[in-house]
Amino acid sequence: MKIGIIGQGYVGLTISAFAGEYFEVVGFDNNQKVVGQLNSGISHIEGVESEVLNAWIKAGRYRATSTGADLVNVDVVVIAVPTPLTSDRQPDLTYIDSACKTIGENISKPVLVINESTSFPGTLRKCIKPTIEKYSKNSVEHMYAISPERVDPGRCDFNQKNTPRLYAGLTPEASVKTREFYSKFCDNLVEVSSPEVAEAAKLFENTFRQVNIALVNEFAQITNALGINVYETLDAANTKPYGFMKFTPSAGVGGHCIPVDPTYLAAVAEEHGAPATFIRRANDVNLEMSKYVVDRVQADNGGSLQGKSVLVVGVAYKPNVADVRETAAELVIEHLRNRGAVVSWHDDVVGTWHGESSAPLSGADIAIVVTKHDSVDEKEIVASAAYVFDTTGKIKDVKGL
Ligand SMILES: NC(=O)c1ccc[n+]([C@@H]2O[C@H](COP(=O)([O-])OP(=O)(O)OC[C@H]3O[C@@H](n4cnc5c(N)ncnc54)[C@H](O)[C@@H]3O)[C@@H](O)[C@H]2O)c1
Repeated sequence: MKIGIIGQGYVGLTISAFAGEYFEVVGFDNNQKVVGQLNSGISHIEGVESEVLNAWIKAGRYRATSTGADLVNVDVVVIAVPTPLTSDRQPDLTYIDSACKTIGENISKPVLVINESTSFPGTLRKCIKPTIEKYSKNSVEHMYAISPERVDPGRCDFNQKNTPRLYAGLTPEASVKTREFYSKFCDNLVEVSSPEVAEAAKLFENTFRQVNIALVNEFAQITNALGINVYETLDAANTKPYGFMKFTPSAGVGGHCIPVDPTYLAAVAEEHGAPATFIRRANDVNLEMSKYVVDRVQADNGGSLQGKSVLVVGVAYKPNVADVRETAAELVIEHLRNRGAVVSWHDDVVGTWHGESSAPLSGADIAIVVTKHDSVDEKEIVASAAYVFDTTGKIKDVKGL
């Protein structure tokens, strides 16, 4: 079988790497720089080894392209493109639309179309299928299925093989074909009764994390006001063997999923007249954490940050990845600059960001740890500034949440 995978980012390239063991994979991406790099055997995604990519390229089982016509002979096409928010924080399906256009214009024989991009219930049935049909030159009848992606970049214990995968086809035949495809490289496939259930389950998984993170972020503010150590309190609560799941506070949430997916759920809820107050409030609490952190730092430093040199340590949205999408560091830096601080940041995993380079881990008045990569030495962080504020709970003997 020949597989086309639209989007060669975190999700698409990860799937390509697993699928390449069994299928011929055409990785379609409209970023030509990424395509060139992938065809020379260089992976830009953590967790996808360049050696694996090279092995599939040499075996003739992987090729990246920006040419839609290269998808002409595929049997299965997987959509793995971004589903961000618009500037007014509404679901943005423009990348999905553009992927559907590529499929519609280039694939004229019936194939199985699987969506792995995260979106609201009804996306497969009401957006993807009609959009592909709109762009198709002939009246081809594709099969359609959803299998929301659950990959956690940088994570080693759970991967495509051992993470249970939800799926549902628009027709029974599409479900059967979807199972056949994923069963080659995934051990545990869970069929649900409709694509909408799979789409909603994916959104709820990330909303569950979002509201629990917001709750623990609020709790950190309460424990601080009461003079109680939040980490010790959470560890104490976590000794209960049932009915409790530990989340830890932070400067906010980042990445493509937790700050974005709940808003997809809230948008579709409100469109259907259902309340999403809890989700909206959780989002606000998480967004407000950056201000709370900067307020605490300012209060500890004589009530003003004007002219102080502040080093933000770790700007990736989570440890050991270079991904800066929606990172809480962005808002922390914005608050600091608005208060007159002279801000630089240190993150050798990210390297360059917004046209700035990672600064040395030393010589600042104030350091705020937003993300602690394993590669960064704790003692160096402590020595990097006269005052260190840790939002991660990983640095001993400094101020923190
Ligand atoms: N990254 C994660 O951890 C994760 C986990 C689960 C689900 N998801 C979901 O998977 C989807 C993809 O996310 P990602 O993290 O892989 O995004 P990404 O930004 O890492 O990669 C997307 C790729 O798609 C390409 N692209 C955009 N529009 C295109 C088009 N029309 N045609 C071809 N290529 C196009 C981009 O150039 C980019 O290389 C999103 O819906 C996301 O919510 C992501």
